[in-house]
Amino acid sequence: MSEPTLRALNAEILGDFQPEAVFVLGSGLGALAERVEQAQRRPATLIPGVPGSSIVGHSGELLWGTLAGVRVAVLSGRTHVYEGHSMQSVVRAVRVLLCTGPRLLVLTNAAGAIQRDMKPGELMLLADHLNLSGASPLEGPHDAAHGERFPDMSRVYPAAVRNAVRTVADARGLRLREGVYAMLRGPQYETPAEVRMLRILGADAVGMSTVPEAIVASQMGVPVLGVSMLTNLAAGVSRTPLSHAEVLECARVAGQTLADLLSASLPAALAATRSNA
Ligand code: HPA
Repeated sequence: MSEPTLRALNAEILGDFQPEAVFVLGSGLGALAERVEQAQRRPATLIPGVPGSSIVGHSGELLWGTLAGVRVAVLSGRTHVYEGHSMQSVVRAVRVLLCTGPRLLVLTNAAGAIQRDMKPGELMLLADHLNLSGASPLEGPHDAAHGERFPDMSRVYPAAVRNAVRTVADARGLRLREGVYAMLRGPQYETPAEVRMLRILGADAVGMSTVPEAIVASQMGVPVLGVSMLTNLAAGVSRTPLSHAEVLECARVAGQTLADLLSASLPAALAATRSNA
C-alpha cells in the first residue's frame, strides 16, 4: 500500500489525532497503556493487514491519547514471526502508525539477560541490535515513499534519546543497563550453547521481537527508543529451566517501573530527537 493510502487509513482510524510518539508494548508490559489519558481504544486488527495476536500477555490493542502531556498512539501487544506471520505483517501496524509522522518510536520487550552480572527485573536501553532472524521487513518490492532501499542502520537508537532517559533514571536512583539486543526467531528459548554464541557475538540480551519494528522506523527516519525488561537470566546463565509464565510474572511486577520511567522521560526523550547525536 502506498504512503498516501496509509495516511488515509490513519485518518479513518485516528481522525485528526496526530501522535508525537508511537509505542509498542511487549509481553506483559501493558502497564503503560493504563496511564494514557483520554484514551480511545480499538482492536489493532482494525488496521487492514494486521494479524491478530495469539499469545498470552499480548492483548493486541491500539489506543491513543496523551501521556505526560504528549500525544501518543500505543500498540499494546505485538505479533511475532514465530506465530507464523511474515516480517511484513509483523511490522504492518507500526508502519501504518509511523506514516502519521511521529518524532519517536518507543519499543519495549521482555528479554533474557546474557551478561552474568545482570539481574531479572533490571531494565536495559538498546544501544544497538543484532538481527539474527534471518529475515528483514524490508524484503520484497520497495516503496520509495517509505525511505531508502538500503537504509543506514548505524543510528537506529540515538544516543541523545538514551541519555535523556538515563538522566531521568539517575534522578530516580534507577539502575539502567545499556547494551545490544539480539533477535532470534523463537519460539523455543535458546540453548545454553546459543547463549554462549550470542555472548561472543556481542549480545547483552536476547528476545524474539523489536528488531523488525526498529528496522522499519529507521528506514522511515523515525528515531527509536528501545527498552528491554530483563525478565530472566538466559538459558545456561540461569540454572533453572525457562518458562513463559516466569517471564510474564517478572514483566508484570517490574512493568510498573518501566511504565514510570517511560512516562517520566517521554517529554525529554522527545525533545532529544531534535538533537543530531
Ligand atoms: N530468550 C528469548 N526471548 C525471551 C527471553 C529469553 O530468555 N526472555 C524473554 N523473552
